[in-house]
Amino acid sequence: MKLKVYRYHEGMDSPRYDTFEIDSSPGLTVLGALFQLQKEFDDSIAFHYSCRGAVCGSCAMLINKVPRLACRTQVESLLKGELDVPISSYPAINETIEWDPEKEVLIEPLPHLPVIKDLIVDMDAFFKYYRSLEPILRPSDDDPEKERLMDPEHVKELELYTNCILCASCFGACPVEGNNPEYLGPAALAKLYRFHIDPREAEGNERLKLADTPNGWSACDSYGNCYQVCPKGVSPIMAIAKAVRELNGDK
Ligand code: SF4
Ligand code: FES
Repeated sequence: MKLKVYRYHEGMDSPRYDTFEIDSSPGLTVLGALFQLQKEFDDSIAFHYSCRGAVCGSCAMLINKVPRLACRTQVESLLKGELDVPISSYPAINETIEWDPEKEVLIEPLPHLPVIKDLIVDMDAFFKYYRSLEPILRPSDDDPEKERLMDPEHVKELELYTNCILCASCFGACPVEGNNPEYLGPAALAKLYRFHIDPREAEGNERLKLADTPNGWSACDSYGNCYQVCPKGVSPIMAIAKAVRELNGDK
């Protein structure tokens, strides 16, 4: 089994792809395979990871042209074509690179973010947009004596968005982001909507106005790639559609 890995570091004229051959084994993840490459072939291959359990969000990368978490993507499933994801196509890194998906795994950095080294991208823009939408709870009254009780229905709706691990897979998969680097992006908008619907919030609809800008809600073109690639089942496209409906006055 071959791994074709994007390589780049400061000072290189242009990126290159290195191909390595390793034995595949049941349960081997792309992250595990990268560790193997570091150990057996080239310890300079750079990538991010932390939890190794699909919790921290730091190992997102472009695997066979789809943003995925390396720690939960199994190599054998990829080669068998079991992990195909129906996303709208969009320019991603090097469109001309050729690979055989039945024999090779293609590993590249997340699109739409500057590459620092190999598979490591600079997440500054992603977090700048996220912070610009003030992702903190602003409760409506003084702290209660015990806890704030919530209706189970409200909790259920909030959970559609609270599972986000800020991996930026949706950011890397969004064609709008590729055409407009100022677009706030699916994850930030979903988080804004999550606070908007939180019954403990004091601000009500005012929250939505934070993204009522040309690069906010209205910039979404409803491709839906965000939902298709999200490893946590979050649906930014649904949050955006609901916010737009509310802002238009047809709840
Ligand atoms: S919404 Fe999903 S894909 Fe986007 S950052 Fe959150 S967990 Fe990752
Ligand atoms: S290493 Fe934490 S999500 Fe993959």
